[in-house]
Amino acid sequence: MCGIVGYIGHKPAFPILIKGLKRLEYRGYDSAGVALIESSDLDIFKKKGKVSELEKFTETNSFKGTIGIGHTRWATHGEPNDRNAHPHYSHDQKLAIIHNGIIENYGALKTELTEKGYEFRSDTDTEVFITFIEDIKKSLDLNLEDAVRVALTKVVGAYAIVIMSVEEPDKLIAARKGSPMVIGLGQGEYYIASDATPIVEYTNEVVYLNDEQIAIISRENLEIVDTKDVPQEAEIHKLDLKLEAIEKSGYDHFMLKEIMEQPNSIADCMRGRLNANEGLLTLGGIREYAEMITNAKKITIVACGTSWHAGLVAEYIFEDLCRIPVEVEYASEFRYRNPIINEGDILFAISQSGETADTLAAIELAKSKGAFVFGVVNTVGSSISRVTHEGAYLHAGPEIGVASTKAFTAQLTVLTMIALRIASKKGTISDSKYRELLVDLENIPGKVAKALETDKTVREISALFKDAKNFLYLGRGYNFPVALEGALKLKEISYIHAEGYPAAEMKHGPIALIDENMPVVFIATRDSSYDKIVSNIQEVKSRKGKVIAVVTEGDVLIPKMADFTIEVPSTHEALMPLVSVIPLQLLSYHIAVMRGANVDQPRNLAKSVTVE
Ligand code: F6R
Repeated sequence: MCGIVGYIGHKPAFPILIKGLKRLEYRGYDSAGVALIESSDLDIFKKKGKVSELEKFTETNSFKGTIGIGHTRWATHGEPNDRNAHPHYSHDQKLAIIHNGIIENYGALKTELTEKGYEFRSDTDTEVFITFIEDIKKSLDLNLEDAVRVALTKVVGAYAIVIMSVEEPDKLIAARKGSPMVIGLGQGEYYIASDATPIVEYTNEVVYLNDEQIAIISRENLEIVDTKDVPQEAEIHKLDLKLEAIEKSGYDHFMLKEIMEQPNSIADCMRGRLNANEGLLTLGGIREYAEMITNAKKITIVACGTSWHAGLVAEYIFEDLCRIPVEVEYASEFRYRNPIINEGDILFAISQSGETADTLAAIELAKSKGAFVFGVVNTVGSSISRVTHEGAYLHAGPEIGVASTKAFTAQLTVLTMIALRIASKKGTISDSKYRELLVDLENIPGKVAKALETDKTVREISALFKDAKNFLYLGRGYNFPVALEGALKLKEISYIHAEGYPAAEMKHGPIALIDENMPVVFIATRDSSYDKIVSNIQEVKSRKGKVIAVVTEGDVLIPKMADFTIEVPSTHEALMPLVSVIPLQLLSYHIAVMRGANVDQPRNLAKSVTVE
């Protein structure tokens, strides 16, 4: 949520900032702005809307400054407009700040500063924050880094900030708590960003700033201290990220690219971990803890959104294959409901971004009560990957489209591999079933590729239903979470109201909604609840609902009942969500495109939800 970039070096900063902001636009697109030092002046340019609006606004300028900061905003305090856009000046306009996060005690600080005579130009907590730093700097006569450090001991909340001062024009001060920050190391230059995507084309050496660390960055030096001014080691990491992975590569949208990439991203996720021929399944992350997970009395899974849906599928798989009870919790509920967690309990945290604030807080809560926390995360080096005790990366590559697609299938792949490993160790599945499932899993990329061939059919169906006001998605068993995921995908990018339900629950309420205008998507592949879902389809048909059914290739029964069918290859029912979700991703994509919606940047959403 909110993207921040900074540059200090010998090159003109402006083009680097703009390019970086475009790479980070998936994190927020309410407004964009930059601050630069140009011929000894600290100038700010900012505009409501996307980075392209900022570019238009500044096109007559030729900026030469070699230090600057930039921000793309997802609004929290104050409506999205030019005034509330970042960067913000301090009251005396000698400092500028960009900020990702929320300062919770900004109200009290604002009152205190107003009583001292400060006035504010915006409605943001960020302007209060920089004015607070200005006040500390002046009243205690401190340099910039010391003023920032003192201020950070007094603010409550989450932040990733970068600050510059016209009086100290050769340094940037960056700090974080609860919001991500990466520093790229160049030759006589440094790049700062919310994640590595704006940095990767310049350098592959980065330092991830930790919570409550402050970086003092000049052209020649990076110094890190904590809020008590104790020097900290800057651990250098090598980025394993290719530029092509963060570009559209000829696709109209990142979302479509990421949907189409899934045969590869799933294969990447299994690479070096699964060898069905030899019956091998090795996940570095669980090697040491396999015994502990095998003996678990219960596993709790916390996540949000699509990752929570992956958690639901995992619940079915773990209970089915490993016979371990699983509870799947929304991280935002778990953290505030005084959950029962005992020393040694096991918690899985699932997150694509690795930065989701609620999931992070749930992890901290579980850790504080002595639980062992295992992360299933996509973004390498992200906060969740660093605060969990152990974990397994998805290796799905960067996901940039706001609607999560390839991360979902990679999450299912990793969770299935873990479940299989544990089930085999625990002896809750036979060796032959284990072997069979390994082969089926290894074949999933090919089946996903086949499922992607439904694209044309799905596009035709999309054209017929693009103006629908509501959609119902129904599934049973392993396909129930897929129904939830299909509905979420549709509503978030096409803004059509959609609900996912267990198919049998329909008659306890939602059936009242069904008439000839209600499209009902059934995920009705051949599995242990096939006969039951066939009855549910009949119930909808007899009320004149329009049935779109995702079925297993070769099904002859459902096509006779449904208005439209989409065939996907068959696989074991525990693996079916990996295949059956594909047409639903395509359906939401095509409907959104046909409705003229901005697929990669849906309204009000941001890719990484770093506020609670
Ligand atoms: C939906 C979507 C969101 C995320 C949710 C959790 O397409 O992208 O629902 O799944 O915000 O995000 P992560 O997985 O990054 O923790």
